[in-house]
Amino acid sequence: MTFDEKSKIKSGFLIGKRVYLRALEKEDLICIRKWSNDPEIRRLTGEVTSMSQVDADKFLERAYSDNTRKWFVIVIKENDRVIGEAGLLRMFYAWRTTDISIIIGEKDAWGKGYGTEAILLLIDYAFRRLNFHRVAIGVVGFNEKAIRFWEKIGFKKEGIQRDGYSYNHKYYDFVMMSILEDEFRELHGGIADNDY
Ligand SMILES: CC(C)(COP(=O)(O)OP(=O)(O)OC[C@H]1O[C@@H](n2cnc3c(N)ncnc32)[C@H](O)[C@@H]1OP(=O)(O)O)[C@@H](O)C(=O)NCCC(=O)NCCS
Repeated sequence: MTFDEKSKIKSGFLIGKRVYLRALEKEDLICIRKWSNDPEIRRLTGEVTSMSQVDADKFLERAYSDNTRKWFVIVIKENDRVIGEAGLLRMFYAWRTTDISIIIGEKDAWGKGYGTEAILLLIDYAFRRLNFHRVAIGVVGFNEKAIRFWEKIGFKKEGIQRDGYSYNHKYYDFVMMSILEDEFRELHGGIADNDY
């Protein structure tokens, strides 16, 4: 392994078998913008607007300055390719609850287990290091793939916001899902030996 390769891996923060999560860098904004500006991804995630360079710079700034958020990029270990982003948002320490988000933006990386590995690392970090008790997500009702994805991780549907999402002049449900720390532990045990 070259020095460069080693230093890249070293900057990985949550390290799994095939992917690692590392802090968002300025150089990642080009990918973040590409994914945010992809209409299919916007439809699936509920994002409503495109991202300019100014928006992207603010997004990076917020990733560091907003203490209710932690944001990472998802990188394939083998070749250091950035394939997506994931983060915690609306972190509320007093209630030990947080929301979570993931986008595998590179579509050729869909369905290969990378999303699962990345989200397990992030949830493990949220429970084991950040001391949260509950992790929650809201999913666009027609994003059946994502609903199955979260269910497979162990998330439970806890409510439906009826007509909570509007897209192209039609209304769709917005599905609220969550997982609690002991449910996660029962299903997945300890995920990685990461020293935080
Ligand atoms: C949803 C997403 C995070 C899943 O990540 P992924 O790496 O593609 O998924 P994985 O390969 O880890 O698959 C895990 C499970 O998700 C479900 N899944 C994945 N791809 C699927 C597909 N094409 N159809 C149905 N279910 C699918 C399955 O339950 C799968 O388990 P299985 O392979 O044992 O059947 C990713 O596809 C993505 O970012 N999509 C676009 C943005 C998005 O929808 N984000 C989530 C918003 S809540």
